[in-house]
Amino acid sequence: METKIFAKDQLDDAVDLLAKGELVAFPTETVYGLGAIATNEKSVKGVYAAKGRPSDNPLIVTVSDEEMMRRYAKEVPERAEKLIKYFWPGPLTILLFVKPGSLPDAVTGGLDTVAFRCPDDELTHNLISKLGYPIVGPSANTSTKPSPTTAQHVYHDLKGKIAGIIDGGPTRVGLESTIIDLSVKTPIVLRPGEITPEELSEVLGEKVLINTGKVSDKEIPKAPGMKYRHYAPSAPVVVVDDVNDFSKVDFNENIGVMALKDQLAKIDLPDENKFNLGNDLVDADHNLFGGLRYFDDKDNIKQIYVQGFYDGEESLAYMNRLNKAAAGHHFNK
Ligand code: TXA
Ligand code: MG
Repeated sequence: METKIFAKDQLDDAVDLLAKGELVAFPTETVYGLGAIATNEKSVKGVYAAKGRPSDNPLIVTVSDEEMMRRYAKEVPERAEKLIKYFWPGPLTILLFVKPGSLPDAVTGGLDTVAFRCPDDELTHNLISKLGYPIVGPSANTSTKPSPTTAQHVYHDLKGKIAGIIDGGPTRVGLESTIIDLSVKTPIVLRPGEITPEELSEVLGEKVLINTGKVSDKEIPKAPGMKYRHYAPSAPVVVVDDVNDFSKVDFNENIGVMALKDQLAKIDLPDENKFNLGNDLVDADHNLFGGLRYFDDKDNIKQIYVQGFYDGEESLAYMNRLNKAAAGHHFNK
């Protein structure tokens, strides 16, 4: 299948494909998503197949607004209303009980909950409004690879497997949305993102728990995606927690380094072995997945050292993704 790249002014063509049940990737402020009309079971199954995603890992339902969400939620608690008012459209995914029978089981993985997201992206907002139905929206990467932050990343992973990609340029945030579970007694953040637990707690006026990332068998399926290997390039990734440790690495041409600009300047490696994460943590969030992909495409790179950040809740999302990419491997020498 030919994978078409759509520019901003070709949105109607993308809507037509989705309406026909085809798969089309779309931009959001976090990462690119892989869209299919959420009410068509066959299309939704196609998303799992294109990504190579295990079928027990449910999909986010991407809506154009709260009203569309209400068609598929069993109930919308006051907490959800507060968060929606404050953060939507924006990088917050909200887990609620699903209205039975309103969506195919393939969307929810057979769970009684569903994850709703309303991205802050005009193109995608218009796409879903024109379609008139929500679209599922997992990240548009091959399962286990870093999420795509450009249309080119999507093309790299999914060309020939999907009908189209809407090119909205590089995404703003670079890491996936915060997921909060409101189907439980105390709200809990299942995946950290740009919106922090503290901000959520402030808007809700109550305590918000944070998932530690350790999923026990009994707790499954509170965050099914957590148990899988993720974000991983082919070469092993090592987290460098203390930037002074960069000087202890035995550098050679098979090593790649990802760090902030000022750190990189001190490292004696050819430019092609270095990936600049930018000037601060916000830049690093934006560039992390792109850097992992940069080295994934270089066959000579056998190990990737990546700068860690410890900046309270602000660095939770970055470290969550980096720790998964590194499978918990930290530099210590
Ligand atoms: O920023 C984002 O959220 C991006 C953009 C494209 O919207 N999407 C995204 O989707 O990151 P995905 O599928 O890569 O990650 C969604 C996560 C998965 O870990 C999945 O297990 C979890 O959300 N999830 C989805 N539905 C769930 C449910 N009903 N209960 C628990 N976890 C759920
Ligand atoms: Mg994903």
